[in-house]
Amino acid sequence: MRIDPFSLVIFGATGDLTQRKLYPALYNLCRENLLPENYSVVAIGRREKSQEQLEADIRNAVKQFSRENHHDEAQFGEFLSRFSYYQLEFNDSQGYSRLKTYLEEQEEIWHTEGNRIFFLAVAPEYFPVISDELHNHGMATNERSWQRLVVEKPFGQNLPSAIALNNDVRKTFAEENIYRIDHYLGKEMAQNIMVIRFANTLFEPLWNNRYIDHVQISLAETIGVEGRGPYYEQAGALRDMVQNHALQLLTLIAMEPPVSLDTESVRDEKVKVLRSLKIREQDVVRGQYGPDREGKLLGYRQEDRVSPQSQTETFVALKTTIHNFRWAGVPFYLRTGKRLPQKYTEIVISFKSLPGVLYFEQEDLGPNVLVIRLQPDEGIYLQFNAKRPGTHSLIQPVSMDFCQNCHNGFNSPEAYERLLYDVMRGDSTLFTRWDEVEYSWKFVDQIAQWWDTTTEPIPIYPSQTWGPRASAELLKKEGRDWLRFMETEVF
Ligand code: BG6
Repeated sequence: MRIDPFSLVIFGATGDLTQRKLYPALYNLCRENLLPENYSVVAIGRREKSQEQLEADIRNAVKQFSRENHHDEAQFGEFLSRFSYYQLEFNDSQGYSRLKTYLEEQEEIWHTEGNRIFFLAVAPEYFPVISDELHNHGMATNERSWQRLVVEKPFGQNLPSAIALNNDVRKTFAEENIYRIDHYLGKEMAQNIMVIRFANTLFEPLWNNRYIDHVQISLAETIGVEGRGPYYEQAGALRDMVQNHALQLLTLIAMEPPVSLDTESVRDEKVKVLRSLKIREQDVVRGQYGPDREGKLLGYRQEDRVSPQSQTETFVALKTTIHNFRWAGVPFYLRTGKRLPQKYTEIVISFKSLPGVLYFEQEDLGPNVLVIRLQPDEGIYLQFNAKRPGTHSLIQPVSMDFCQNCHNGFNSPEAYERLLYDVMRGDSTLFTRWDEVEYSWKFVDQIAQWWDTTTEPIPIYPSQTWGPRASAELLKKEGRDWLRFMETEVF
């Protein structure tokens, strides 16, 4: 596919996201020959930086964080030559006048035809400031070329602040030119969910409340807040992970088949799921990590710039239901947390058992289970029942396990590679449309309000355990358990 020439303008170029994700992703796209002949990158930061320092930063970022270890020095030198640094205080209006001239000069040099991608890798309070300045200085629109705005999460703190933010950026950029990132949508297996569902006769006919007993979505992390105390105190796991990543995965699992694979048809179906979600106060569990049992790891309240009395949740588990014909009566359990024993993201579809006759008289017969693993392994696991070899008629669960990234030499593209590539070619299917953001906030705001009005102190769970006891009880009281299949032996 032909990609138009463009300039990528990164605000927040000295930050963590740019170093860890954007520079390595751009480099990998370059190695895969996915960048057009004419492009340039203008890295904008508040600090002073020379061209040599910028190039050293990019080199380090690629060395440390890129999935590609080796590089061809000539190609790398050519790649580095596309970058330049521009120092700017984000609210210095005069600086934007100079930026305009600078961009136009760069566009002349690199023949990028005025097409611009503005990537805001900055704190959300700068989103409206920057988009206003771009608008006021005539950088955000040009009839002969395209201009796109990429914004990172968090998109607001709750629905009212998200609406205000959205109104601000929409003054300058049309909805189709705004790319709201949810990096989980760039993960290989998240993109695979629709394929698994809609390209397999085996699954789609069973994908409803007649055959599915329940669904579990787990996004477990081993890390703590890692120096992001001030941000996390405002966000908590509910806003940091549930409002976006967990709900996005849920919509992909639950959506109806879209009329076509075009961006708006897919997003239309995802929004319908979000609009149909229901939740009850008694079906939400929160928790906060304390020190581990051996006392080696700090509790959340001891972390840097976190209040010693903090009531912020680092763990959420909940049960939600989807009120439509396909899903009525099927619980969807979500959980996410920091400082859990393992880092993994997995979706478990647990099917109903057949009537309790014939083989189903055997009590310990397991249900059929389909597991979609997003990370660290990328794959699909299917559990079913088969006869145990031997003269006795015993049945045992067996499994088929497909691991995409376990094969030697297979190196999945990082989420940001796919997402940047999509922005370059103008495909926003893997980005969240405003109404998706809106309905996710509506869902999450109800929960936040329950917590704001409770006098119950937040339960503390020891680091490296699976969260507060109430998380297991949420399922136990309905005769279920959180399921984990990654270590299961493959027959
Ligand atoms: C980010 C959250 O969106 O996702 C972080 O802000 C979290 O708190 C991260 O650690 C998890 O992403 P991944 O790709 O490592 O699962």
